[in-house]
Parts: sequence; structure tokens; C-alpha cells
Amino acid sequence: MPVAGPGEAAVQIRYGGICGSDLHYWRHGRVGDFYLREPLVLGHEVVGTRLDDGVPVAVYPATVCGQCPSCREGRANLCAAVRYLGSAALMPHVQGGLADVLVVPADQVVPLPAGLDLLTAAVAEPASVAWHAVSRIGDVRGAAVLVAGAGPIGALVVAALRTAGAGYVVVTDMASAPLERAKALGADAVVDVAGMTPDDVAAAVRGEYGVDAAVESSGTSAGLGACVRAVRRGGRVVSLGLLPPGDSPFPGNLVVTREIELVGTFRFQQPQFREVLDALADGSLQTGPVVSHVLAATEVAEAFPLAGDPNLSGKVLLDLAAGGAADGATDGAAR
Ligand SMILES: NC(=O)c1ccc[n+]([C@@H]2O[C@H](COP(=O)([O-])OP(=O)(O)OC[C@H]3O[C@@H](n4cnc5c(N)ncnc54)[C@H](O)[C@@H]3O)[C@@H](O)[C@H]2O)c1
Ligand SMILES: [Zn+2]
Ligand SMILES: [Zn+2]
Repeated sequence: MPVAGPGEAAVQIRYGGICGSDLHYWRHGRVGDFYLREPLVLGHEVVGTRLDDGVPVAVYPATVCGQCPSCREGRANLCAAVRYLGSAALMPHVQGGLADVLVVPADQVVPLPAGLDLLTAAVAEPASVAWHAVSRIGDVRGAAVLVAGAGPIGALVVAALRTAGAGYVVVTDMASAPLERAKALGADAVVDVAGMTPDDVAAAVRGEYGVDAAVESSGTSAGLGACVRAVRRGGRVVSLGLLPPGDSPFPGNLVVTREIELVGTFRFQQPQFREVLDALADGSLQTGPVVSHVLAATEVAEAFPLAGDPNLSGKVLLDLAAGGAADGATDGAAR
């Protein structure tokens, strides 16, 4: 049982989301350039109750240095010395949150706003990724936006675009179940791009002049190519999906001749995490069908393959409190 030291808090974890990076560590022992050099507890999408007072909380997963140029210019999501839960980037690794009890710096433990339950709050981490990505577009009120890829992250981008007041949201994917979830979250149009070239995709989504902005959420260079082709002249592409290792081809000449603004987006800052929790609490951010399954921690061997198949699942949560013989509450069933 880990014990909180000075300035730390212990959290009894209730729900933890399984993320693409967790799946990479599980399948390949690595994510991009980070590979396992010692045992690693996975998980960075966790909520629970603070042990000392029982208050329901969400855990902000980044410990930032406060000293580096990024921290000092108010972009702590780019901290050069960040420690992120459940990551092999550093040695020793930063152990993650899919555990009974997690000890973190006390200022990373955020009490849930009134009226927000732990299950709804469990998507706060990936929703904050989406929230920050949408903020990288700028003012989206009334704008036409393409979201390429409707996995859990793309679906949450759709939800965040709705909250931010986008006028028209069109979503692509090559699997039907993610497109159904995107529709349920308020996408105006969905396009199944299986077998289509990036040019075909762009033609199908851009309308007369092109969409105002696009968020690449598939992690493929085909998705990025479609986004660059689909935005209008002077439009903005936010590159969110992590591309395969190495260099990725994209239509660079269109970036030049159409003055397309191609920007990255990476994680989020703690104030945005709090904004997302508030928006989940007051209902202005609706993530309903994003979570497709809640499994007991004892069913982890089923939960990981399930989380890895976009046709079978959206976001899969583990319930760290379930799984006892008497507990049939989650039972691996779809919610
Ligand atoms: N930048 C960040 O801070 C950040 C944070 C978290 C995740 N990510 C990345 O975001 C991406 C999405 O995460 P996820 O968990 O939703 O992943 P996911 O794999 O569950 O979803 C990707 C979706 O894209 C679809 N797809 C594949 N090729 C496509 C194409 N050419 N066009 C349209 N759709 C296509 C897939 O069918 C799938 O539904 C991943 O690359 C992940 O690494 C980035
Ligand atoms: Zn994640
Ligand atoms: Zn820093």
C-alpha cells in the first residue's frame, strides 16, 4: 500500500480508461521512442476518491517542472521535464494509475465539481486532449470542421467542437461503429472512407471552398493528407493523432500555395482539465456514447483486446472496485 509523503495525496482509484498508448505498451512494450526497461503499471486516465477524506477526485496526470521555457511561457503541456503517469519515457519509469491506490503530488488531485459522478468524470483526461486540440483551432463558433478518425479521441473532439459552438462537423472513419458513435455525439455528417484516396475524401467533405478547419485524429498520414486537402485556403489543420515513427508524407505544396496553417496539439494543461470537469458537470460537454464498456479489473485480459478493436468498442474503462465474487454490477456488459 503506497503511502502519501509530504505534499502528496493518496487516491483510491475507481475507474481507469484504457488508452492507445497503454495498448502499445501492452502489445509491443513500447510507444514511439519509449520502451519498457522495467515493469510498468499502466494508466493515466484515472478517477477515484481521496483516501484521507473520501472526496471524489480526478487525477491530473502530468507533473511539470515549472522552470523550463515552456512552463514559464504558460504552455506547461510542453514541459521539457514532464513526468506523465504510466510512462516509460524516464528511468525509473513513472508508474501509472491502474492500481488500487495511487500517490501523486497533492496539487494534481482535483476534487470533482458538485453533481459530477466518477463514471462521467472518467473521460476527463482524453476529453481534455480533445478540448485542447479544439482550442488550437481558435474561435470555432459557426465554423465547418472536419474530424478525421472517430476513435475515442476523435469522438471527444466532436463533443468538444459541439461545446465550442462549431457550426458544422463532418467526421470520417473507415469503420462503421466509430461513425455511429460520432453521429450520436452530434456530428452533422459522417463519411466512411474505406477504400477512398485522400483526394476522394477531400472531395466528399469539403463542399465548394473547403472546410474552415480539420482535426487529424486517426494517427495516419492518409488522414493528415485528407485534412490538408479538405480545408479551405488559409484554413487550419490541427495534427492530433500520433503518426507512425519516422517521417510521414503529406501534401506539402498545398500548405504552401493555400497558406494552410498546420499546427500540432499535445495533451493539455491543468486549467483545461478543470474546465473539462466543469463542462462535464454542468452538461455543456456531452460524451454519452464515448464510453462503450466498463469491465472489472479482474477482466483486464479481455478488456485490452476489446479496447484495441474500434469495431467492438469506444473507450473501455476498468472498474478497480468491481470484480469480487458478489459483484455483478458491470459484468463486462455494454452500458
Ligand atoms: N496529441 C495528443 O496529445 C494525443 C493524446 C492522446 C492520443 N493521441 C493520438 O490520437 C489518435 C487517436 O486516438 P484514439 O484513441 O481515438 O485512437 P484509435 O486508434 O482508437 O482511433 C483511430 C480511428 O481512426 C480510424 N482511421 C484509421 N485510418 C483512418 C483514415 N485514413 N481516415 C479516417 N479515419 C481513419 C480508425 O478506424 C479508428 O477508428 C492516436 O494516434 C493517438 O496516439 C494524441
Ligand atoms: Zn490516454
Ligand atoms: Zn517544465
